[in-house]
Amino acid sequence: MTSVREPVVSVLLDPDWASGSLVDDVRRGFAGHPRALPPKWLYDDAGSDLFDQITRLPEYYPFVREHAILTEHAGEIASASGATTLVELGSGTSEKTRILLDAFTSTGQLECFAPVDVSEATLRAAADQIAVSYPGVQVEAVVGDFTLHLAHLPRSTVSGGRRMVAFLGGTIGNLYREERGAFLGALADTLESGDSLLLGTDLVKSADRLISAYNDSAGVTGEFVLNSLRVLNRELGADFDLDGFSYVPFWDAHMERMDLRLRAEMPQRVSIPGADLVLDLASGEEIRVEISTKFRVSNIAAELEAAGFGITRVWTDEDGDFALTLATKP
Ligand code: SAH
Ligand code: TRP
Repeated sequence: MTSVREPVVSVLLDPDWASGSLVDDVRRGFAGHPRALPPKWLYDDAGSDLFDQITRLPEYYPFVREHAILTEHAGEIASASGATTLVELGSGTSEKTRILLDAFTSTGQLECFAPVDVSEATLRAAADQIAVSYPGVQVEAVVGDFTLHLAHLPRSTVSGGRRMVAFLGGTIGNLYREERGAFLGALADTLESGDSLLLGTDLVKSADRLISAYNDSAGVTGEFVLNSLRVLNRELGADFDLDGFSYVPFWDAHMERMDLRLRAEMPQRVSIPGADLVLDLASGEEIRVEISTKFRVSNIAAELEAAGFGITRVWTDEDGDFALTLATKP
């Protein structure tokens, strides 16, 4: 029997990362119009738990669709990538990734699994569970930011071994177009020839289905989005009154993205001492907490090619709701 290898956890985020970079993000985001927050601040421990509940909501189709594509094609993905190291960006609980891990271990090819996330507690728990389930695999978890730390991620331990980077859940759609370009370019730069990217993207569909996926009847998604204000209250001593806001998601048909906002239901003065800021919100004023871009298969290929990837294969589910693209660095 193979004994369990203890996960190695590297912390690339500064200890004061939350305060330092949160202050910058808050100052920049609240100076613009619409006022905005960058999405990684949604995922403190409470936010990660709420997201996990979102993945189980009947309205949230992306999880099930991506799960179905992985279940059907994981074997092909493992053999096409030929990877010995699997890196996962924004890994969360790595629940769906187990389908890939099953396929990559059944061929005996996998040496190392490296999940990367800003949410340390969720990452550590996932790393421990995966190490137990896959005793032959070295788990090298990285507490890091995928917009900053791509060059410092684990490399293949076997000489000539390939890496595959999985970026699932449609998380790339939470970046703006320019950010996606910079992210994909930086990722292509750090990969070696023959390494690959497995990218999960949600596809354009009817506004009704999109809106219900981001506005569930149980109200979990609203709680998740409001939690961003709780993070500011705790980390920066802000005094946001959560009862004074409502969650307003809408489909921006021109930009082809969900725009997920909080609206101040009355005029509010909020002080944010940790950022040395006083924020005056008019009644009806909105704060954008996240965007979730929806793609078309042709645009995904174009963005990947512009970043220097070649398209190996694209899979979608039967209904064309979600796409997984395997792209390779030439
Ligand atoms: N991959 C999982 C989780 C998606 S939710 C799935 O498909 O279900 C997005 C995840 O990305 C969260 O776990 C969040 O903590 C993480 N995340 C968000 N921004 C990040 C960043 N800049 N760097 C690293 N992780 C990030
Ligand atoms: N990556 C997920 C998505 O874009 C994140 C997410 C799911 C999300 N539900 C949300 C973000 C609600 C903000 C609000 O689908």
